[in-house]
Amino acid sequence: MSNQEPYWLGRASEELQRLHRQHYIWTKNIGYLVHPTIASTLPEKARIADIGCGTGIWLSEVAKVSPSTYRFDGYDISDASFQPADSLPPNVTLGHGDFKKPFPEELHGQFDLINIRLIVISMGEGVWESTLRNMLALLKPGGAIQWTEGDFLVARGFRGANSTSSGGHYLTQGQLKLNSTLVKRFGYNFPDFNKLFTDAGLQNVGEDVSSTDRFVDQRHEFTEIGIGAVFGALRNVASAKQEGYWTEEEVEQFRLKAVDDMQSGAYLRWDLHVTFGFTSK
Ligand SMILES: C[S@@+](CC[C@H](N)C(=O)[O-])C[C@H]1O[C@@H](n2cnc3c(N)ncnc32)[C@H](O)[C@@H]1O
Repeated sequence: MSNQEPYWLGRASEELQRLHRQHYIWTKNIGYLVHPTIASTLPEKARIADIGCGTGIWLSEVAKVSPSTYRFDGYDISDASFQPADSLPPNVTLGHGDFKKPFPEELHGQFDLINIRLIVISMGEGVWESTLRNMLALLKPGGAIQWTEGDFLVARGFRGANSTSSGGHYLTQGQLKLNSTLVKRFGYNFPDFNKLFTDAGLQNVGEDVSSTDRFVDQRHEFTEIGIGAVFGALRNVASAKQEGYWTEEEVEQFRLKAVDDMQSGAYLRWDLHVTFGFTSK
């Protein structure tokens, strides 16, 4: 069913800017672009793919700090977010790919590392295992997969450190409204990644979990980015005009109150998961 769902985060330029800011703040919080356990296994002529690559920012940034002998390929169902080819490093290309379907045979067994980040809003009930299988088919024996997701189902507002902070009530309200709407629409859920990877036969599986409030000085920016995603998606969802959904006007009223929460010092908090594993040699 989720195969037919529209892409609720949208592709407007403000969303693309949000994706770039998100890249930098997530990377700083997590502390690496490629997990050190994976980085040390990559061969001299590593081939690396990013699936659901969005603008291609992760590939471009990894290319900048990697040997020029590495080759990077990004795949996305839509090219609407792609950075122009001439602004990409010369060893990075972006093209079409749908992770819900098996990839073309010629791509099977070609890659040393598959990266996936932040596609949870396009998933739903019963699609995680098959999506993972589609991606694993791309790996060489002994190849690595790294999957980074935000668990927004645990997200809520929190009272900030200063005495004038609100309790973050409207930050929580917006997030809970989006979560419950998506859960009802297409079974939006967050899997147990360690189990998902282990059940798929991956080896040396590891999972790093960090919190968006890990560094106090990041709380405001994570909240700003979160407000953009939550209320942007609620605005897009409002167009479905179904019973119990907020109208565009209601979304805007709640958004302004959530911004007041943030300005008072309250913040939105969720978990970041990086899971990795290797295929057998
Ligand atoms: C939130 S963006 C994240 C982009 C990028 N991974 C990042 O972290 O900056 C999710 C991306 O997944 C893509 N996407 C959604 N469904 C897809 C599918 N079935 N196959 C490939 N890409 C898909 C969307 O087009 C969008 O670019």
